[in-house]
Amino acid sequence: MKIILVLLLSYFHLVSCNSTRSDTLLPGQSFSFSAEDTLVSKQGKFELGFFCPGNCEKLFIGIWYTNIKPKTVVWIANRDNPIRPPFNNSHLELSDGNLQLLDARKQRVWSSSLSTPSAYANKAVLLDSGNLVLTNGIDRQWQSFNYPTDTWLPGAMIGFNKSKNTLQKLTSWRDLNDPASGSYSLQLGQNQNGELVVQHNFQEEWRSGPWNEGGFAILAQQNYYKDLFDFSYDPTEYSKYITYNVFDESDISRIVLEFNGSMKQWFWSKDHQSWQLVWSRSTDNCDRINFCGAFAICDMNAGPPCECLKGYEKKFKLDWDSRNYSGGCVRKNPLQCGSNNKNFVHMPNVKLPVSSESMKVGNDQICEYICSSNCSCNAYAYSNSGECLLWYSDLIDLSRLPNNSSQVEFNIKLFERSNKGKKKLLLVALVVSITSASFVCGTCCYFLWRIKLKEKGILGRKKFREMLLSKSATNLSKPGTSSKMGQEKKLSIELKFFELRELKAVTDNFSPDNKLGEGGFGPVFKVLLLHKKIY
Ligand SMILES: *[C@@H]1O[C@H](CO)[C@@H](O)[C@H](O)[C@H]1NC(C)=O
Ligand SMILES: *[C@@H]1O[C@H](CO)[C@@H](O)[C@H](O)[C@H]1NC(C)=O
Ligand SMILES: *[C@@H]1O[C@H](CO)[C@@H](O)[C@H](O)[C@H]1NC(C)=O
Ligand SMILES: *[C@@H]1O[C@H](CO)[C@@H](O)[C@H](O)[C@H]1NC(C)=O
Ligand SMILES: *[C@@H]1O[C@H](CO)[C@@H](O)[C@H](O)[C@H]1NC(C)=O
Ligand SMILES: *[C@@H]1O[C@H](CO)[C@@H](O)[C@H](O)[C@H]1NC(C)=O
Ligand SMILES: *[C@@H]1O[C@H](CO)[C@@H](O)[C@H](O)[C@H]1NC(C)=O
Ligand SMILES: *[C@@H]1O[C@H](CO)[C@@H](O)[C@H](O)[C@H]1NC(C)=O
Repeated sequence: MKIILVLLLSYFHLVSCNSTRSDTLLPGQSFSFSAEDTLVSKQGKFELGFFCPGNCEKLFIGIWYTNIKPKTVVWIANRDNPIRPPFNNSHLELSDGNLQLLDARKQRVWSSSLSTPSAYANKAVLLDSGNLVLTNGIDRQWQSFNYPTDTWLPGAMIGFNKSKNTLQKLTSWRDLNDPASGSYSLQLGQNQNGELVVQHNFQEEWRSGPWNEGGFAILAQQNYYKDLFDFSYDPTEYSKYITYNVFDESDISRIVLEFNGSMKQWFWSKDHQSWQLVWSRSTDNCDRINFCGAFAICDMNAGPPCECLKGYEKKFKLDWDSRNYSGGCVRKNPLQCGSNNKNFVHMPNVKLPVSSESMKVGNDQICEYICSSNCSCNAYAYSNSGECLLWYSDLIDLSRLPNNSSQVEFNIKLFERSNKGKKKLLLVALVVSITSASFVCGTCCYFLWRIKLKEKGILGRKKFREMLLSKSATNLSKPGTSSKMGQEKKLSIELKFFELRELKAVTDNFSPDNKLGEGGFGPVFKVLLLHKKIY
């Protein structure tokens, strides 16, 4: 008798399981809160149903992992339009070719909103990827992956299509127990090279750094990452998408933008039956927007973390001394327009600033040409996915990445005197200022020497020479520390002392392997080499 009862019970259990534990909702069928109905994907990975977070004041339709406790919700249909009590008879139905959520008073609170639904042969299926799709068996007419909540599941795409005017981004919950749209979002940067951007109240707050073959530069150093996850980036003329997959289909992972802006990737540990953190977005100073100001580069491992780019100098030196770098840097030399400017400083392994424009071009020479022929272009980068990124405005939030972490080279235009005549002038100016500096130093040293001589008697010739050398060296190692005005003034004054013929003679004789590289002019030689390399 007992056995029969158990059999009977399990039979009913099976029946009820089979009737509700389907992965498909067909037209005319509905799915109600009161009956605690759920859809379960074919292999049982995901479940769709009603849930109410916190103290159950609001009711939502969502998708969660079937066998993971506590309930981890990955998608919500009606996050900004919850059902309020009474919840009785709230139900989800497939009617008129759309999924529709109706409350107890039969008011529609949410719909899949297909404007041209095909009323026939439609069905809603919950897939094992966690994607809820509306399909006629051939096309997917609607899918939940196109409307992500705060969770990015493997197989889903984050990105946009300008011609379709669609955007797939994550939006955080409002708080721990309220899934309404919060203030943080995660999306793909418009003009960036496959870069993820976290915004807070529509203000950029964090950037992932450049896309690298197979992932992000910030994650490239962690080998285990590339063994577990397969990221891909697909930019076209009008659309850009990033997606990722887990190599082992039985692995469970998700990327979440939490209510407080934390961005984390989790991995389900079957052994520990808990979520393990894979990585979370950094909160270094270098990740703070505008920490170093414009035209500076941030390096967490450097003495002062901020440094002006080549060709630029600190805007407010005193601020920098008190560790406020946000004033940034300004161009040392005025903008030179007209002929093409092909002088670029090449920087590998950097987190690129937010670019002004991006376009698909055939190769890096075309990209360089576009930048060099437009006076207002400050920098360019050519990515391995064929994108030419261009910067027309201030370069903000550039930071250094570990060696070999990015294959994309950042090329900053040097607005220095570019043509030959101007280059010579610069060299002459340098030589002149060095000569005069040496002269001044020499004079000072001479008097110093005289004084010391008086005090100590004899000062060795060698020591005097060393002193001279070190004085001119310190002068040279900081060619950009004097202000722009001062520099120009010095230039014009000093140039007066020389005849044009003399100048020519000096510059023509000036080559890396001639006598100027000796003695007190040793450092001069270095500075010029440095400039040569840049030109
Ligand atoms: C329930 O579904 C399973 C597998 O899909 C099937 O083997 C079983 O016969 C079904 N039970 C009933 C009562 O239909
Ligand atoms: C709604 O459900 C509650 C309990 O959940 C019950 O007390 C109430 O009678 C129901 N109301 C209707 C109209 O069915
Ligand atoms: C973007 O939209 C256009 C126009 O609808 C479409 O042809 C194209 O395939 C879309 N691109 C992607 C990657 O979805
Ligand atoms: C956000 O909240 C989580 C816990 O939910 C916590 O671990 C994390 O540190 C918080 N992040 C920030 C930036 O406050
Ligand atoms: C830092 O410097 C900038 C620019 O000079 C100034 O606007 C800002 O108020 C300073 N911030 C602090 C905290 O001193
Ligand atoms: C340079 O680029 C800017 C920004 O795209 C554009 O507005 C401007 O017309 C360009 N100038 C020239 C000379 O092409
Ligand atoms: C990274 O490269 C720079 C320049 O090539 C070099 O000076 C530095 O030592 C390298 N750092 C490491 C950790 O290899
Ligand atoms: C960078 O890559 C080069 C060759 O690809 C290698 O020799 C070098 O050790 C790498 N440096 C670091 C810091 O990984």
